[in-house]
Amino acid sequence: MVKKRAERVMAIQNLSKEFKSGLIRPQITVAVKEVSFEIRAGTILSLVGESGSGKTTIGKLILKLLKPTSGNILYRNKDIATFKSKQDKTEYYRKVQGIFQDPFASFNPLYRIDRVFDLIFKGFNPEEKNRQEKIKQALKSVNLNPERILGKFPHQLSGGQLQRLLIARALLLEVDILVADELISMLDASTRIGVLNLLVELCKKNGMSVLFITHDLNLGYYISDYTLIMYQGRLVERGQTKKIYQNPVHPYTRMLFESVPDIGRRWNREEDFLPEQIVDDVNKFYEKHQGKGLIEVDEEHSVLFSCD
Ligand SMILES: Nc1ncnc2c1ncn2[C@@H]1O[C@H](COP(=O)(O)OP(=O)(O)OP(=O)(O)O)[C@@H](O)[C@H]1O
Ligand SMILES: [Mg+2]
Repeated sequence: MVKKRAERVMAIQNLSKEFKSGLIRPQITVAVKEVSFEIRAGTILSLVGESGSGKTTIGKLILKLLKPTSGNILYRNKDIATFKSKQDKTEYYRKVQGIFQDPFASFNPLYRIDRVFDLIFKGFNPEEKNRQEKIKQALKSVNLNPERILGKFPHQLSGGQLQRLLIARALLLEVDILVADELISMLDASTRIGVLNLLVELCKKNGMSVLFITHDLNLGYYISDYTLIMYQGRLVERGQTKKIYQNPVHPYTRMLFESVPDIGRRWNREEDFLPEQIVDDVNKFYEKHQGKGLIEVDEEHSVLFSCD
């Protein structure tokens, strides 16, 4: 029996972003280069890669906080670059939301946290009658006690509580796609699992999709259906999480897996980690496979063999 794949909610097509800096001698940083992937309903994709590989930039492009240099982002088959009117943008932001690394930055310290919910209803749903009831339900579903949370100022809550509040907000908005950038990096281990499980549950129950940006391969494996591996602005390996973890093909992906410390394996002093080595390995790999480009090595598992 062929399993039917979930509906495509977003398509990232050949997306590139360059940053120009300096007026006299302008320098160009290529943050994202010809990246393509799809987001399907109710799935979690983890976007993994070293610092500076372009992960946050992709998140910001999706959230329309940056404009692409080239390429397109289609949301339900419409190019998001065409969403220019206030109404189109409001509708888009209602459906596609971001949670960033530092939850404190998402709240205004001068207002009680209730304001976040008031703004939702004012901005997106002014007719809603059962406001209080809906807010309470959403808070409970992220394991927050409404009586303890409502009426507080952001500094009176922990980072984990604030992040769960942001998830509750996404829930109230019934978002389609949540971009979670290093979402749980500031949570302690016990809260982490709770927030992760909650995300997975929401995806499966509500059909929400999550782009989960992380450095952490173990987390990526735990949470995601699909994995995207970034290296120097390019997507070098893409596919079903299981397939990539069982059979990593790109030298950068292989290096990532080798550098995850194994519990039970003792660290070998002789085994130096050399970043230059990996740059070399990747160049040799691309040279050897010149002209091949991105190839599907298995169903729903593609690898960048060369980038000429
Ligand atoms: N506004 C900007 N102006 C100029 N360069 C930028 C800007 N934003 C990002 N960059 C550059 O683009 C590249 C990709 O940055 P990005 O923040 O997307 O990386 P990242 O993968 O999220 O890294 P990290 O894991 O450290 O968060 C980096 O080289 C960064 O210096
Ligand atoms: Mg980042």
